[in-house]
Amino acid sequence: MELPLFAVLQRTPRVILTLSLILFSLTIVPALYSLLANPILTLSVSSSETNGPPPSDDMHLSHLNSSPVATSTSRTQIRDENEQRCDLFKGEWIPNEEAPYYNNTTCWAIQEHQNCMKFGRPDTGFLRWRWKPDDCDLPIFDPREFLEMVRGKSMGFVGDSISRNQAQSLICLLSRVEYPEDISSSPDKAFKVWNYTSYNFTLHAMWSPFLVKTTKADPTDPDCNLFSLYLDEYDTTWTSQINQLDYLVISSGHWFYRPVIFYENETISGCQYCALPNTTQLPLYYGYRKALRTSLRAILENFKGLAILRSFSPQHFEGGPWDKGGDCVRTRPYRRNETIPEGADLKIHDIQLEEFRAAEEEMKKKGLKLRLMDTTQAMLLRPDGHPGRYGHLQTAELSLRNDCIHWCLPGPIDSWNDILLQMMKTEK
Ligand SMILES: *[C@@H]1O[C@H](CO)[C@@H](O)[C@H](O)[C@H]1NC(C)=O
Ligand SMILES: *[C@@H]1O[C@H](CO)[C@@H](O)[C@H](O)[C@H]1NC(C)=O
Ligand SMILES: *[C@@H]1O[C@H](CO)[C@@H](O)[C@H](O)[C@H]1NC(C)=O
Ligand SMILES: *[C@@H]1O[C@H](CO)[C@@H](O)[C@H](O)[C@H]1NC(C)=O
Ligand SMILES: *[C@@H]1O[C@H](CO)[C@@H](O)[C@H](O)[C@H]1NC(C)=O
Ligand SMILES: *[C@@H]1O[C@H](CO)[C@@H](O)[C@H](O)[C@H]1NC(C)=O
Ligand SMILES: *[C@@H]1O[C@H](CO)[C@@H](O)[C@H](O)[C@H]1NC(C)=O
Repeated sequence: MELPLFAVLQRTPRVILTLSLILFSLTIVPALYSLLANPILTLSVSSSETNGPPPSDDMHLSHLNSSPVATSTSRTQIRDENEQRCDLFKGEWIPNEEAPYYNNTTCWAIQEHQNCMKFGRPDTGFLRWRWKPDDCDLPIFDPREFLEMVRGKSMGFVGDSISRNQAQSLICLLSRVEYPEDISSSPDKAFKVWNYTSYNFTLHAMWSPFLVKTTKADPTDPDCNLFSLYLDEYDTTWTSQINQLDYLVISSGHWFYRPVIFYENETISGCQYCALPNTTQLPLYYGYRKALRTSLRAILENFKGLAILRSFSPQHFEGGPWDKGGDCVRTRPYRRNETIPEGADLKIHDIQLEEFRAAEEEMKKKGLKLRLMDTTQAMLLRPDGHPGRYGHLQTAELSLRNDCIHWCLPGPIDSWNDILLQMMKTEK
C-alpha cells in the first residue's frame, strides 16, 4: 500500500500540522525503535545499529536514595505446600555473591548489544543479586534439573528482542551443561531452532514483535517504518508452529509505540502516528489489547502445553528521554519502596493482566494451562541492569543512544529463567 503522504501535503491547508506528523512518523519514531528492530541473532552487530531505544515517560527517580540491602543470602528448598502459597512476583532483590553463573567467555550466545562487560562497563555489582519472593526462596536456576524436566520436550519463545534476550539468557545458563546444535530449518535469523541433543530438547525463538499478522505499509520500500497490523488475524509464522511445542513463553509491548495502521475485518480501523487522511487516530493501547487478545486466542485454539505470558519489561531512562541524553547509570537495585512506577509501562501491564485473566478463564474451561510471569515489578527495581552506554563501542558519536530497555547478559534477566523453572516445577 502506497502512502499518499505528499499528495496530502499538496491538498491540505494544514500543511504545518501534516508536515510535523510526517516528520514525526518518518524520522523520529522509527529511530526510537531501530534498536528493537534487529531480529538477527548475530554475534557481531555493528555498533551503528544501536541508535535508538524508545521514548520514555520520565520516571522522576533521581531524588530517591539507595539504601543498602541487608538480607540473608541463605537458600532453602521450597516445600510443596509453600510453593502453592508463595507469590513469586512480590519480593526484593538480595545480594548473591555466587553470581554470575556464566560470562562472555563461557557463553557464545550473548548478543553484542547485551555484552556489557565487553564494552567496558566498569561496575560488576549489578551481577550479584538474586530475586527473593517475600514468602519463599526462589532457587537459582539449575541447568541439569531444567534439562531433565524438558527431556524429549520442546519450548518456544515468541516476541520481540526482549523475548530473545531471555532465550539467550537461558542458553547461557544451560551452557554449563550443554551447548545446543543449531537445527533451524531456514537461514532466517528471526526463527531459530536449537537441539540439546543429549536431552532431545528443542528450543525455538520466534520473532513476532506485534504478535499478530503484520506487513509493511509499503512493501516496495525496504526502509519502510510504518507497519500494518491485522489486529484480528494470527501471525501464522508462530501460530502454525505451536501445536508441536510443550512450553510457550509469549511477550510483547515495546513495538506498539511505533507508527502503525490498525486493520480489523480487513479494513483500516485507525492508526497511530500516521498521516493517512480521514483515519481515526487510535492509541497504542487500543491496538495492544486487541493484538494480545488475538494471540491468546491463537494459543487457546492451537496449543496444548504450558503457556506463559511474560509481562511488560520496563525501561529506565533518567535525566531525559531516550533521544535527549536519557541514560541509566545506576549501579544497584532499588528497594521496593523507592520506585515510583508510572507511565506507559504500567498501562500495558494493566492490559496484560486484564487480558490474561479473561483468557485464563477460557483456557480453564477447556482444561488448558495459561500462566502469568509477572516480572514487571521485579524489573522496575533494576535500573542498574541495562546496557546503557555499554551496549556498543565507546565512541564520541552522539547518535549512539543509551540502551535502557534491553538487559545485560549476565544480568537480572537471568532471574526470569529462575522463575520460569520454578513455574514449570509448580505445574508438575
Ligand atoms: C569467565 O568465567 C570463567 C570461569 O568461571 C573464568 O575463568 C574467566 O576468568 C571469566 N572471564 C571473564 C572475562 O570474566
Ligand atoms: C569479555 O569481557 C571482557 C571484559 O570483562 C572483555 O575484555 C572481552 O573482550 C570480552 N570478550 C568477548 C568475547 O566478548
Ligand atoms: C525426541 O523427542 C521427540 C518429541 O519432541 C520424539 O518424538 C522423539 O521420538 C524423540 N527422539 C528420541 C531419539 O528420543
Ligand atoms: C535432537 O537430537 C536428538 C539426538 O541426536 C535426535 O534424536 C532428535 O531427532 C533431534 N531433534 C530434532 C528435532 O532434530
Ligand atoms: C468486524 O466484523 C464483526 C462481524 O461482522 C463485527 O461484529 C465487528 O464489529 C467488526 N469490527 C470492526 C472493528 O469493524
Ligand atoms: C475525507 O472525508 C471528507 C468528508 O467525508 C471528504 O470530503 C474527503 O474527500 C475525504 N478525504 C479523503 C482523502 O478521502
Ligand atoms: C524503605 O524500606 C527500608 C526497609 O524497610 C527502610 O529502611 C527505608 O527507609 C525505606 N525507604 C523509603 C524511601 O521509604
